[in-house]
Amino acid sequence: MDSFDYRDGVLHCEDVALATIAAAVGTPVYVYSTATLRRHARVFREGLAGLAKVHLAYAIKANPNLAVLRVLADKGYGADVVSGGEMARALAAGIPAADIVFSGVGKTRAELAKGLDEGIGQFNLELEEEGVVLAGLAAARGMRAPATLRVNPDVDAGTHAKISTGKADNKFGVPIDQAPAMFARLAALDGIDLKGVAIHIGSQLSDLGRLEVAYARVGRLVAALRAAGHRITRVDLGGGLGVPYKADDVLPSPADYGTMVARATAGWDVELMFEPGRVIAGNAGVLLTEVIWVKPGVTDPYVIVDAAMNDLMRPALYDAWHDFAAVAPTGDRMRANIAGPVCESGDTFAMGRDIDAVASGDLAVFRTAGAYGATMASTYNSRGLVPEVLVDGDRFAVVADRIQPETILAAERVPEWLEK
Ligand code: LLP
Repeated sequence: MDSFDYRDGVLHCEDVALATIAAAVGTPVYVYSTATLRRHARVFREGLAGLAKVHLAYAIKANPNLAVLRVLADKGYGADVVSGGEMARALAAGIPAADIVFSGVGKTRAELAKGLDEGIGQFNLELEEEGVVLAGLAAARGMRAPATLRVNPDVDAGTHAKISTGKADNKFGVPIDQAPAMFARLAALDGIDLKGVAIHIGSQLSDLGRLEVAYARVGRLVAALRAAGHRITRVDLGGGLGVPYKADDVLPSPADYGTMVARATAGWDVELMFEPGRVIAGNAGVLLTEVIWVKPGVTDPYVIVDAAMNDLMRPALYDAWHDFAAVAPTGDRMRANIAGPVCESGDTFAMGRDIDAVASGDLAVFRTAGAYGATMASTYNSRGLVPEVLVDGDRFAVVADRIQPETILAAERVPEWLEK
């Protein structure tokens, strides 16, 4: 459920008509609902209410906008970060360093050192050497780095290949069968406080059964580690819960997920960590766009909108579906392709889709664009960086400016030897 509804035939975000935002900020623009972010934060937490010790670390990569982070920080969420840049954002949003989990398969030595200096609460190690380096950096500072070892459970998450992370040949985690020996070697190092294990098998997961298989493997590993004399106090279960992109998509709810987790982790006696991203932000945002042309096509017309693959990459990258809806629908329908202005055939949001009838100058939205939308934007074709707006009740604010092509151009220069 979200807060993008029609009132008197016009699409609103909470109490603000989207046309008002388009008039004030221009298009394309991302629009986020504070009420939906808060609601999702609450529903996810409530879904896990049956578990004893829970730590929630919002996966910043889904939507790292500072204002979005602030909304979630106020709901008691920590952060899962995967780069120095994300770490800086989480801290800037007021998230305590101790509530930050540092994930990522390619943390640099400088990023690890920065994490230690900031007092990051947990480093999720992706390979043994990373643990050795982290321990060395920590020991040199008279510290013990809090960490978990991320394992790869070799489970097919049943999602798009590009967002699957838990198969043996994916780059993430250490092979689960090698984990006991590696854990023992790392736990013996002075500079590390190895508290447990972490997993994350993929994103937009729709099959809780596959996740439960992965969790069961982790449960057996935890038992084996304890049998070997290790103290295990934390297990990080990652993120990945999928969201509906179409009206008739049926996805497990946070409550379904919580029930499965309670069953899968019964008796573990650890603090469980979660890293939800999409399930919090996905349906809290839309990409608002204006139709530039309706161009006749051979089979169907092309609706050319002013948003493009550089603003919302998911359809081009994963063939992802985003519902398209007119801001002020007439009631008529049309069959059309929807495409952006970028000079690639891949800059196509939909082919042969049944949509609200639109004409040039009309406003429309791509729904479920709050996660992995603005954050994946680029400036391809020398387009600007898309701005972001946050709505709260009847007010709204620009929470990320449109970065104009001129600003991007200003960071480039021609070396003097090319000057005439
Ligand atoms: N934790 C880790 C270690 C992750 O790698 C991810 C996502 C998450 C948590 C959050 O997963 P979520 O709850 O959002 O599913 N750009 C792609 C999604 C990439 C996800 C990468 N990792 C998309 O647009 O579908």
